[in-house]
Amino acid sequence: MKTWMGAVALACATLSCGDTERVEPLAARGALLASDPRITRSQYNAFACLTCHSVDDPPAGGRVYPGASLRGAARRPTYWSGEVTHLREAVERCWTGFMRGVATDLDGPDGQALSAWLDSLAPEGSTAGTAAVTRTYPRVVRDPGVGDRTRGLAVWGRACASCHGAVGTGAGRIGPLTSVLPRDTLAEHCDDNFTDVGYADLQAYLRASVTEKTRHGSFLGYAGVMPPFANETLTDDEVRDLAALFVCP
Ligand code: HEC
Ligand code: HEC
Repeated sequence: MKTWMGAVALACATLSCGDTERVEPLAARGALLASDPRITRSQYNAFACLTCHSVDDPPAGGRVYPGASLRGAARRPTYWSGEVTHLREAVERCWTGFMRGVATDLDGPDGQALSAWLDSLAPEGSTAGTAAVTRTYPRVVRDPGVGDRTRGLAVWGRACASCHGAVGTGAGRIGPLTSVLPRDTLAEHCDDNFTDVGYADLQAYLRASVTEKTRHGSFLGYAGVMPPFANETLTDDEVRDLAALFVCP
């Protein structure tokens, strides 16, 4: 048993309980918390761990998740493409960066339960998670060119609909702070300020903006809590097709 504080092991030593007696209910509670957005106690957070991470590898049904599978994560040698060596720190990035959580809450009982759950996804002796996951994010993003709207709709269903809901209406979106697309982006950009540059330039700018948000999410100082999609999760072709959904009237 390996949690990020070792507190479970300590409690069991003190109470001389069997390891599994304590750990299994804790991991089961962690599994429930992993699908609960209220876990961070922020009224503005709509995401759960399982909004962005699958526990299957590869994910079922062709779904595209921005985060790596959590199966085996507890055993990986490094996280965040080698930037982080401790599991707790890897989770803290998501907790504070995407879920509006307070870091110290991860040291409390809910954090312990999450830790036990992550551990249970990679049983000791299994080969799951022995290799680190690499994700690459292009630093500079350009206009990807004109894509295919029909293919874009299919990619949308696999990668974006879980948070943004249906294209055009936002039906089923995850929370009120999640943009209705493409409506909100078009309302912001398809206005009179662009009459000088012309329609073609305006469209090129819009495609670049959508690519920017998709590739970087809230990275590089951009506001918000949307996660980034790496080259390994969406190809350039897929991003180009997604951008084709954003066309000014
Ligand atoms: C809004 C989306 C989002 C949410 C919510 C989220 N994560 Fe992440 N997570 C990511 C992204 C993006 C990465 C970086 C890409 C990667 O390495 O998986 C990441 C990375 C990680 C990693 C490192 C994976 C690796 O091997 O590099 C772990 C572990 C992790 N998250 C656990 C969690 C846990 C546990 C929760 C819930 C408390 C959570 N995440 C919530 C998006 C999210
Ligand atoms: C985990 C939830 C989540 C996923 C998945 C997600 N988004 Fe977002 N997205 C958000 C949130 C929340 C916002 C509002 C701004 C913010 O907080 O970053 C947003 C904002 C945006 C914006 C800016 C909208 C505006 O107001 O102009 C674009 C463009 C966008 N998302 C595109 C996408 C695309 C394309 C995908 C699929 C590849 C996607 N998003 C997947 C959560 C998500």
